[in-house]
Amino acid sequence: MTLTDELSDIVGQAFEAEGMSKAAGAVRFSDRPDLAQFQCNGALAAAKERKANPRMLAEGVVARLRQDGRFREVSVAGPGFINLALTDEDLSRRVEIANLAEGLGGWTKAPETIVLDYGGPNVAKPLHVGHLRSAIIGEALKRILRAAGDDVIGDIHLGDWGLQMGQLISELELRRPELPYFAAGAAGPFPAAAPITLADLEDMYPAASAACREDPTRADLARKATKALQDGKPGYRALWRHFVDLSVAALRRDYADLDVDFDLWKGEADVDPLIPGMIADLEAKGLVELSDGAKIIRLAEEGDKKEIPPIILVNSEGAVGYHATDIATIIDRVRTNRPDRIFYVVDGRQALHFEQVFRASGRAGYFPSDRLEHLWFGTMNGKDGKPFKTRAGGVLKLRDLIDLVEGKALERLTESGLAKDYPEAETREVTRKVAVAALKFADLSNPRTTDYVFDLDRFMSFEGKTGPYLLYAAVRIRSLLVKGKEAGAIPGALRIAAAEERDLALSLLAFGDMMRLACEKRMPHHLCEHVFNLAQAFSRFYAGCRIVDEPTPEVRASRLALAAAAGRQIEHALDLLGIAVPARM
Ligand code: ARG
Repeated sequence: MTLTDELSDIVGQAFEAEGMSKAAGAVRFSDRPDLAQFQCNGALAAAKERKANPRMLAEGVVARLRQDGRFREVSVAGPGFINLALTDEDLSRRVEIANLAEGLGGWTKAPETIVLDYGGPNVAKPLHVGHLRSAIIGEALKRILRAAGDDVIGDIHLGDWGLQMGQLISELELRRPELPYFAAGAAGPFPAAAPITLADLEDMYPAASAACREDPTRADLARKATKALQDGKPGYRALWRHFVDLSVAALRRDYADLDVDFDLWKGEADVDPLIPGMIADLEAKGLVELSDGAKIIRLAEEGDKKEIPPIILVNSEGAVGYHATDIATIIDRVRTNRPDRIFYVVDGRQALHFEQVFRASGRAGYFPSDRLEHLWFGTMNGKDGKPFKTRAGGVLKLRDLIDLVEGKALERLTESGLAKDYPEAETREVTRKVAVAALKFADLSNPRTTDYVFDLDRFMSFEGKTGPYLLYAAVRIRSLLVKGKEAGAIPGALRIAAAEERDLALSLLAFGDMMRLACEKRMPHHLCEHVFNLAQAFSRFYAGCRIVDEPTPEVRASRLALAAAAGRQIEHALDLLGIAVPARM
């Protein structure tokens, strides 16, 4: 139970004893921390229901609660709000218990198996910001849900089977027709070494896609190549392998730099073997129709508020696309991972796609559509309010973005005189961590469904609601504890007495409620909110209370324990957000 669950239980019993429903006793942290620690507004609704005076009902409840020694203060405010405060002894005890149990702040849930589909980069296509947000939000959700006890399987779900593969293959065929992959009837084996480099690949894709856009004959070549690849043409499959391997090697490095990692590196192509059986099954279930040479599934339902167009399962060329691979991937995941739910952390602009895929899955009986969730996110915009682009107006490459952010991080560290005179490797690692913290916290601190503006100067500031500020707060607590230890001062029993100590304790004890919100709403920003509040409460405590140099040994030991608890929870919460704290900076 979280602290507010426990208080709701106590207050609920008092409501019950006064003849009202237990639910009326719901307690939450006070909206006005200057007036009360906790509040319960249940008397108002209860009074309305029974046409009674809310203040009088509240008085009855309060009279009972005053018997309870855990409360320092219980009072009625305004029309019938109940204000509560715990005694300092009770707060101290609770922080000590929370500190031992750590993890979840008392919140628990029934564990589930969840496949988390995030990342979603496409082979050879540059990563755009949508992919970056997917990686950042997905990684945080994975860690948060895991901490809550879920078995989470993170899958990158590479885009490696669509039209872009045919565009690339046909591009290479036009550029270098002499390669053995293209010889008529070539069955392999083919050379083990890749015929091109990653740089070639990155150069080929934009050229190919532009050419296909401009020239229908060229686009036709790409479509035919896609179909031949999917049909298993050996030279094309061999080339495809090279393209994927080159891309994946680069992706692994870039994601690792962001402290993002996946349990599964599967892709659309992995479900290719399931496709013929799936199509036959969908046909047998009467879900497939022919339309202009393509196989489609109609999904519109009566009562639809917007138009849900049919999906093209197999195009007129005979090739399958994004819908078919996503439906087949559900079949694969159900067989392989036996999930309770499947989450997709993907750009909100794909909402229709997922609605279609979920409907098709439900209709075909593959997986219930209400257990498939599109955890969508808004866009990261440039200062012009449009989706972020590079200065040259191009799509942003993940590598370039990481370099850009790390450059800024180093600049800020140098300006602030931090991480000075460290061994070079350590400076580099601190820089990387500051960069990751800035980027991730800026992203995660907004509700995922809102758009936000990429403002590197602001993200990288050591002041305000930023990743660097929080890293600095965590590092400062670490060094405070080290300083204490060197002076022979070690943490001891908690004896909360000062207002700043009380506030910090309350901040620590809000963790469970924030974990619940983050998990149930699948919204990491609640945790960002929490860790920022906590760091601020710590700052006020640090400014208002002597710690290492406090003369009374018991008070000093208590304050060190409180600082240690704050430090631990800040680092724990940051870790759940995918943000690592450097040892020093
Ligand atoms: N590769 C896709 C894209 O770039 C994202 C994949 C998201 N996941 C999924 N199961 N569709 O748009």
